[in-house]
Amino acid sequence: MSQHINSSRLTVPQIRDRKGKEKIVGLTAHNAPMAAVLDPLVDLILVGDSLGMVVHGLPTTVGVTLDMMIMHGRAVMRGSTRALVVVDLPFGSYERSPQQAHDSAVRVMQETACQAVKVEAGGGVPETIEFLVRRGIPVVGHVGLRPQAANVDGGFKVKGRWATERDSALADARAVDRAGAFAMVVEGVARDLADEITREVSIPTIGIGASPSCDGQILVTDDMIGLFDWTPKFVRRYGAMRDLVSQAVQPYAADVRSGAFPGAAEMYNFKSKGTAASGD
Ligand code: KIV
Repeated sequence: MSQHINSSRLTVPQIRDRKGKEKIVGLTAHNAPMAAVLDPLVDLILVGDSLGMVVHGLPTTVGVTLDMMIMHGRAVMRGSTRALVVVDLPFGSYERSPQQAHDSAVRVMQETACQAVKVEAGGGVPETIEFLVRRGIPVVGHVGLRPQAANVDGGFKVKGRWATERDSALADARAVDRAGAFAMVVEGVARDLADEITREVSIPTIGIGASPSCDGQILVTDDMIGLFDWTPKFVRRYGAMRDLVSQAVQPYAADVRSGAFPGAAEMYNFKSKGTAASGD
């Protein structure tokens, strides 16, 4: 049995107990090398279905499948040893019924060995959260702007600037809390609504485009390190990865075109002595 509870990872109760105390640092990862870089620095790594956009070039998260989430989840687990890893249940894999959600979550947890799943919580999803938690599956809820509902909302729309939206986001947050989730992502909501949700619920809120009063923050790593030429309002760029890659590729392309690469130190030479087996 190669999959086991790795005691060196942060646990679900440790993250839940951070409420109102130590801030939770979250970022997304979708592959093993990025997970290895983030692992010593953050508390929670989310294998988010934003990978549909930032890895696969899709327009929304709606095209992401359970198999894609499992493949990226396995890679992130291989690259990390310390952070709590949460994998998103993608569009279409959990909304039909609690049983469907259970089948999907069991696959994700058994095939990736991650510690928890995340679901976007509108409508009847809190009942599903309760169903999963009662069966031993830790759940992070996701309220406010729900990217999987982009087609219903007509885009990625900030929530809570009008009274009706405010009430429904608050109701979703309360229901997720009651259902037994151990944390919730609060995305794209007016600051004072995020403040109110954070005060109201008993579990940590992890903000993205929300408020500094949330119990933690999360960003899509690819946005935060500056991999794209467009940055949403709520992202602070801590790096310029797109420029760095471009700066590295330009001289490489020039060297290839001029014949300057590869050079003597980057080639293998014929050896008259020894054998392949001797490893020389
Ligand atoms: O999919 C994702 O990356 C997310 C973050 C926006 C929190 O859900």
